Amino acid sequence: MILVTGGAGFIGSNFVLDWITQTGGALVNLDKLTYAGNLENLKSLQKDSRHIFVKGDIADSSLVRKLLLQHQPTAIVNFAAESHVDRSILGPGDFITTNVNGTFHLLEATRAYWESLAADKKRSFRFLHVSTDEVYGSLGAEDPPFTESTPYAPNSPYAASKAASDHLVRAYHHTYGLPIITTNCSNNYGPYQFPEKLIPLLIVNAIKGQPLPIYGDGLNIRDWLYVADHCAAIRAVLARGRVGETYNIGGDSEKSNLEVVRTVCAVLDQLHPDSPVIPHASLTAFVKDRPGHDRRYAIDASKIQRELDWEPEQNFAKGIRETVKWYLNHLDWVEQVQSGEYRKWIDLNYGGRQLI
Ligand code: NAD
Ligand code: DAU
Repeated sequence: MILVTGGAGFIGSNFVLDWITQTGGALVNLDKLTYAGNLENLKSLQKDSRHIFVKGDIADSSLVRKLLLQHQPTAIVNFAAESHVDRSILGPGDFITTNVNGTFHLLEATRAYWESLAADKKRSFRFLHVSTDEVYGSLGAEDPPFTESTPYAPNSPYAASKAASDHLVRAYHHTYGLPIITTNCSNNYGPYQFPEKLIPLLIVNAIKGQPLPIYGDGLNIRDWLYVADHCAAIRAVLARGRVGETYNIGGDSEKSNLEVVRTVCAVLDQLHPDSPVIPHASLTAFVKDRPGHDRRYAIDASKIQRELDWEPEQNFAKGIRETVKWYLNHLDWVEQVQSGEYRKWIDLNYGGRQLI
C-alpha cells in the first residue's frame, strides 16, 4: 500500500493506472480535485478495490495523519501541486499555499507517522517528492544540460514554489532523517494532460480550427518526456533509489516550440484531415511572450540511467503520434474538461494577448 497525492491530475493519474497495472499493488489517492484534478481519468478503476480515492488537501495534516495511520503506507509519492507556469504568473498565491505550505504540512504529518514505525518499517519507508527541471533556471544554447548538482535558480513563481518545496523535503532528511528522494523531471506529455499546457492545447485548438498561440519567437526549447516513461522512472526510484538523493529524469528530446507545433500539426494533417482548417500549421499565431520566459531546459539523465538502469523508451515522434491519437479517440474527455472554468482561463490568458 502506498499513498499518492495529486493522483487525479495528469501525471498522477497516469501513475495510479501504471502502478496498479504494473505492480498489482493498492494505493490511497489523496487529491483536492482542483480544476486540474479529474476523476474521469480514473474511471477504469471505479470498481477496483486497489484504488482508494480520498478528496482532500495535502495541507490538512489531521486528515493526512488519519490516512497514514489507517492505511500504513510503505511510501508516499507527492505529485500534488499547482503546476502551470502561466497561472503562477497571473496568480501566484495558490502556488505558495499548495506547493510550499501544503508540502510543509504533508512533511509534518509524514514525519509523525514515520517516527511511530517499527525500526524495519522506518528503514524501508520512502517519501518521493516529484519536482521539476524548472528549479534549475534557464540554459543558454551552448550550456550543458542540468545535472543533479546544478545550482537552483528558479525564475517563475511556480518554479520558486517548487524549489522551496524541494528545499523543505531535503531539510526533513538532513534534520530528521526522513527517508526522502526527490526527482526533477522535464516536460511531460501524453494522455490526460489538461489542455492548458502546450501540447494538448495545440491538439484541441487545431482540430477546432482555432489559433495555435506561440509565445514570442517560438524558439524556446524544452526536453519532452512521455508520461509513461516518467511513471516507469518513478517506480524505479521507489524500488532502488538511494535515500537522500536527487534523480533527474529526462526524455532525451530537446525541441523548440516551433518544432513541437510542426510535429503535432503534421501528425494531425494525416490523422484528422477533415479539420476545419488544413494544413493545421497555418493556424500558428505568434503572440506576446510569457513574462520571464525561460529559454531552454535540458536534462542530463545519466545518473538514473547508471544507478537504476532507467532510460526513456518512447521517442518524440512516436510519443506525439500516440498522444494525438489518444486525444482524437477521447473527444468526450476533451469536451468534459473544457468546462466553464477552462473557458475562463482561456479568456484570462489569451483574451488580451496581442498578436506579434
Ligand atoms: P496537474 O496540475 O495536472 O495535477 C495536479 C494534481 O494535484 C491535481 O489533481 C490537483 O487536484 C491536485 N492538487 C492540487 N493541489 C492540491 C492539494 N493542496 N492537495 C491535494 N491535491 C492537490 O499536475 P501534473 O502536470 O500532473 O504535475 C504533477 C507533479 O509533477 C507536480 O508536482 C508538478 O510540479 C510536477 N511536474 C510536472 C511536469 C509536467 O510536465 N507536467 C514536469 C515536471 C514536474
Ligand atoms: O519543465 C517541466 C515543467 O514543464 C513542469 O514543471 C510544469 O509543471 C509544466 O507545466 C511544464 O512547464 P512549461 O512552462 O515548460 O510548459 P507549458 O506547456 O506551459 O509550455 C511549454 C512551452 O510552450 C513554453 O516554452 C511556453 C510555450 N507555450 C505554452 C503555452 C501554454 C506557448 O508558446 N504557447 C502556449 O499557449
